Amino acid sequence: MDATVATALAEGDFRTALEASVGGPPPVEALALERLGRIDEALALCDAYLATAPGDALALLVKSAVHARRGERMGALEAAQRLAEVSPDRAVAHQLVTSLGGGSFEAPLRGEVVTLFDAYADSFDAHLVEVLGYRGHEAVADALAAAGAGNPPGVIVDLGCGTGLCGPMLRPLARRLIGVDLSSGMLAAARMRGVYDALLEADLLYALATWPDASVDAFAAADVLGYIGALSGVFAEAARVLRPGGHFVFTVEATTKGAWRLGPSRRVAYTEPYVRETAAANGLVVRRHEAVTLRREERVGVAAWLTALERPA
Ligand SMILES: C[S@@+](CC[C@H](N)C(=O)[O-])C[C@H]1O[C@@H](n2cnc3c(N)ncnc32)[C@H](O)[C@@H]1O
Repeated sequence: MDATVATALAEGDFRTALEASVGGPPPVEALALERLGRIDEALALCDAYLATAPGDALALLVKSAVHARRGERMGALEAAQRLAEVSPDRAVAHQLVTSLGGGSFEAPLRGEVVTLFDAYADSFDAHLVEVLGYRGHEAVADALAAAGAGNPPGVIVDLGCGTGLCGPMLRPLARRLIGVDLSSGMLAAARMRGVYDALLEADLLYALATWPDASVDAFAAADVLGYIGALSGVFAEAARVLRPGGHFVFTVEATTKGAWRLGPSRRVAYTEPYVRETAAANGLVVRRHEAVTLRREERVGVAAWLTALERPA
């Protein structure tokens, strides 16, 4: 990928990315269009390109992402299945297949998550923070600052940014702050805060899988990975996208049984060995891993992990 396009895509400057991508590889131009929300044009470009190069991984990713955004699950699934065939070693490809209902059930399906959070967006901050005592956003932002993100300020991506609770705390650490979320309702609330340089409506798996190599200084993921299931695809892509020395800080609900499991809450909880082993298997070093209370549920604190990973320099 051309360096100007890669930098613009990484930094959330999608207009520049599109201008610079015209005349280059069509899948890259399609990605820039998709980032700008011009999804019909992106799909047309992908389909035309895939007619001549049916195994192009980026075109398949963008095609699948566009179908998913349009709510066309079968189209999204077919493109993801083709991606898994052509890139069998990419865990994220297999995870996309599963998340689209093409494998054994392991996490809430994306449509379920969008419906839930679109409906929750207006009352989210008041309910979660004031009623349930949620503190995940503060824990993640504090841990990123303590890990050294922001010194100097770089590109920070807030995965599953929701209404943007992390945003004001991440802003001083970032030269470019980009939020990613599946729910347009949550993103509308995040936009109102006026602290993000760019907001992207996307499944974080697609966003990570299409982000340029070694282009992000830090990822924040507060209380979102529990909607994903297995962490191998997320960690593998994050390790690819982070700059050497970059950080990935997240909270997830904790369990002591097995590796991870989908609970009655419809969120996934993870064991400490699973988090540590999956990080190590993907070349990420665990710099911090501690038990925290994420919020209250039925007046009982929800046990969670606060974890800071680093891509070794
Ligand atoms: C519990 S909220 C947390 C929001 C924010 N990180 C915070 O700490 O306030 C979870 C958010 O993750 C988003 N989400 C869930 N699954 C996602 C996915 N696969 N890709 C992107 N966003 C997702 C939801 O739409 C929701 O806004």
